[in-house]
Amino acid sequence: MGKFISCLDSFSHRPLLLLWISSVYISRKVLGFIVTPDSKGVCTEHRRYTMKKPWAGRFKEQTSRVVESFTESISFDHRLWKYDIEGSIAHAKMLSKQRIIPKSDAVKIIHGLREIAKEIETGKFIFREDLEDIHMNIEAALMKKTGDAGGKLHTARSRNDQVALDLRLYLRTETAAIISLIRTFQKTLLDSAIKHLNTLMPGYTHLQRAQPVMLSHHLLAYAEMLQRDRERLQDALKRMNILPLGSCALAGTTFPIDRSYVAQLLGFEDISYNSIDAVSDRDFAVEFLSVSAILIMHLSRLAEELILWSTEEFRFIEMPDAFTTGSSIMPQKKNPDVAELIRGKTGRIYGHLISLLTTMKGLPLSYNRDLQEDKVPVFDTVDTVKSCLIVVNELFPGIRFNTERMRASAGDAFSTATDIAEYLVKKGTPFRKAHEITGRIVLYCITKNKKLEDLTLKELGTFSSSFGKDIYSLLKAEESVKNKKSAGSTAPAEVLKQIKRMGKKVGSR
Ligand code: ARG
Repeated sequence: MGKFISCLDSFSHRPLLLLWISSVYISRKVLGFIVTPDSKGVCTEHRRYTMKKPWAGRFKEQTSRVVESFTESISFDHRLWKYDIEGSIAHAKMLSKQRIIPKSDAVKIIHGLREIAKEIETGKFIFREDLEDIHMNIEAALMKKTGDAGGKLHTARSRNDQVALDLRLYLRTETAAIISLIRTFQKTLLDSAIKHLNTLMPGYTHLQRAQPVMLSHHLLAYAEMLQRDRERLQDALKRMNILPLGSCALAGTTFPIDRSYVAQLLGFEDISYNSIDAVSDRDFAVEFLSVSAILIMHLSRLAEELILWSTEEFRFIEMPDAFTTGSSIMPQKKNPDVAELIRGKTGRIYGHLISLLTTMKGLPLSYNRDLQEDKVPVFDTVDTVKSCLIVVNELFPGIRFNTERMRASAGDAFSTATDIAEYLVKKGTPFRKAHEITGRIVLYCITKNKKLEDLTLKELGTFSSSFGKDIYSLLKAEESVKNKKSAGSTAPAEVLKQIKRMGKKVGSR
């Protein structure tokens, strides 16, 4: 490479030279020659065929470059490095405890793996495409450092159980992080519900004003959805937290391994009990994606309401400036892009779920290379769900609720008509009849351009003799909500109970 650069030095036309160098660099990168710039940004050319493949013994020809590029997963599975090393350290400890490898070799292996971890952390490690994936990249680096000792690490394991282990370790950590982010957002919603305990708003069905409700009640509906998401993730964690390592390629091993010891070292609840299943199972990832799809569907519904409520038509909320964007042409615009993107990213997560389900469908047992396609959907789902939770949690406390307008709209559009019908029922009218009478009253109001509370007792008397003065207090939205008696209803006293219950679920603030 040095020779190559010095020969180029003799060129006199420097700008052209630079252009040429960069085009060579880019084309080589595309072809998979150059994998990573080093820590100083200097590109290192890897001699692709100097490293023998671990399976070279069986082959007469070298792997085609096109195949290397096509089959590699290092460009995305490098993010499993920490878990790969963690798993390998536990495996080495077990091999030594079981006297499958000498203790001195295990010490060298563990030391070497820790050094590699540091190199990766500080950006000094070079990931090589010709070494295919994270497992072989780390193993090759270890062998370079420790020679024969490193070559013993892969005893009694295969990449099939290794990759299943790494993905479980990764997803276990990320699932816990997502659970915690959900909990934080539930607390934010709870804070807002407490603040708006007594704020009235119109409740909707079919996006038509239906009955007055409390804003606190509406916000808590989202806290409930998120509670279910959190519980689903907790439940998925149970099945995720199972050790597949020791299943080896598919059939187990002839070595006297101690799988329970590895499970204990890595904090797994249990070991897998069928090696064929363990190397081919990605249910834990599918479960994670399906729970994520439900979770982001909830966030998308919330985002949609925020978008709707911030329109001129609703004017129920104003989004914080820091979380909206302007228009490049219309100076007056304040666009809810953040909420729109949360809604938009939902499709992407559904896609990932369908993508993995489709990958799995029809796969014969046990491991097949198709399974490598599990990672991109899982990684992107983790990133997307986390970023949505972080951004919505930041955005939410900045929302200004236009409580005046919400309260005013709560009593509009005959929203207390159901209260009239229930009043008549309490006076002895069968519900169906009471419903019909009230319907006729509403129609009368529409033709006379009156509100329910404008009707005189005489007018009401023409519809039913059961009406008394006490009907008027029921027509106010405040009364309507207060009069709700059922558990889980919108009555402020009930909402307060829901706040306390949810407070216990999400823990102390
Ligand atoms: N990169 C592979 C994956 O993600 C690792 C396992 C490879 N196993 C094999 N038998 N080729 O699935």
